[in-house]
Amino acid sequence: MLSAQDNALITQTNKNTPMGELFRRFWLPVLLPEEVPEPDSPPIRLKVMGEYLVAFRDSSGKVGLVEAFCPHRRAPLFYGRNEEGGLRCAYHGWKFDTQGTCIDLPSEPQDSDFREKVSLEAYPTREWGGVIWAYMGPPEHMPQELPQMEWGLVEPHQRRVVKNFQECNYLQALEGDIDTAHVSYLHSTKKPQPQNQGVVRPVGRIDKAPKLMVLNHDAGFAYGGRRTVPDDGGYYWRITQFLWPTYAFIPAFSWPKTCTYTVPVDDHHCFRMSFTYNVEGAVDSGRWLQGLPGQSQPEGKGPWSRSYGQFWFDDGLPIDTWLLEQNKRNHYFLDRERQRTESFTGIEGIPTQDRAMTEGMGYICDRTKERLGTTDIAVIAARRGLIDMARNLAEKGIEPFAATHADAYRLRALDVVTPDGELGPVLDRYRDEVTVAV
Ligand code: FES
Ligand SMILES: [Fe+2]
Repeated sequence: MLSAQDNALITQTNKNTPMGELFRRFWLPVLLPEEVPEPDSPPIRLKVMGEYLVAFRDSSGKVGLVEAFCPHRRAPLFYGRNEEGGLRCAYHGWKFDTQGTCIDLPSEPQDSDFREKVSLEAYPTREWGGVIWAYMGPPEHMPQELPQMEWGLVEPHQRRVVKNFQECNYLQALEGDIDTAHVSYLHSTKKPQPQNQGVVRPVGRIDKAPKLMVLNHDAGFAYGGRRTVPDDGGYYWRITQFLWPTYAFIPAFSWPKTCTYTVPVDDHHCFRMSFTYNVEGAVDSGRWLQGLPGQSQPEGKGPWSRSYGQFWFDDGLPIDTWLLEQNKRNHYFLDRERQRTESFTGIEGIPTQDRAMTEGMGYICDRTKERLGTTDIAVIAARRGLIDMARNLAEKGIEPFAATHADAYRLRALDVVTPDGELGPVLDRYRDEVTVAV
């Protein structure tokens, strides 16, 4: 349970809020390269932590991320012309480069110095690891290096990144990633299903009340769910790496493996990215390549069925992003008959089952009313860490350590059966497997 005050603090990420300022200390993935596919391709609209933005790739291939409205009369830059090294506003022709510098101001007299006084808010971007990153914080605190996560270090064909839009506060989505207990229920099936392969190790009758343990480290924390294996005498451990601010490396017993990431769109919506990577070989992009901008809708309905389209907010403004066909308005294609006979939920697709739970709590979960149990300690650890870091920054000026320690992110999740009953010894025994070689 959280107090109303803490629930507000942890869920609000607009500029000048404590949590918003904490998030703005980190480089954050915000776009996929295919959203701005080539030099001078059309600009797209997005919203990150309550800020409406426009992204465009200029003639040299550099990605600009700028405020969505022209500083002249606030016309939407989405309608602008992306050409010859900048984005030109469609209203009166003012033109800006990726740094937000005004490079042409044709509606003012030639000899005017007004151009030097005009600029557009612009955020630095980098392209690495299959995503476009943005830094939206104070320039003097910008980390030099991007967090060196393993999915960024592998070759492009060894990775797949999928981005989707979700209709709830970021924290609900993220709390689902660090709640290992739900795997035994929400994602369980009565028949063996291909969707569960690689997720839960087949260790026979599974202990549905895992014991959870947390160990903090420089980039976040490891938390392990320990389940007894009845016929073996050992324990089945699923150990997640949770890295600040919102990355969760999910354990799986074989490659490819997954890292999930959540970034706030505003306090009621978020983007989810799923990084699937395989250090031993290629990753199939298959069905996820469908639904790219300009491509037709994939055939059939299923957890992968989505399209690149517009989502309109209550203030009358849209963003461009991937929207999933299974959503709360159609109950995620819930099939009660399949729920009786085949799966715990009757909803197809693990991420969709998660969304049904997390979006179903409403935009912002009322955490003053929850009753946390023994399996919720990772959720508690994440909340405590985020709130402490945000307060330390806001009240004492203490910068978050992880933001500037890129190498601390070279970690992996772990899924093993072992005689060790405590988390520390398991991590020691498997140190080589949980650490990415430098
Ligand atoms: S509003 Fe953009 S140039 Fe006038
Ligand atoms: Fe889940």
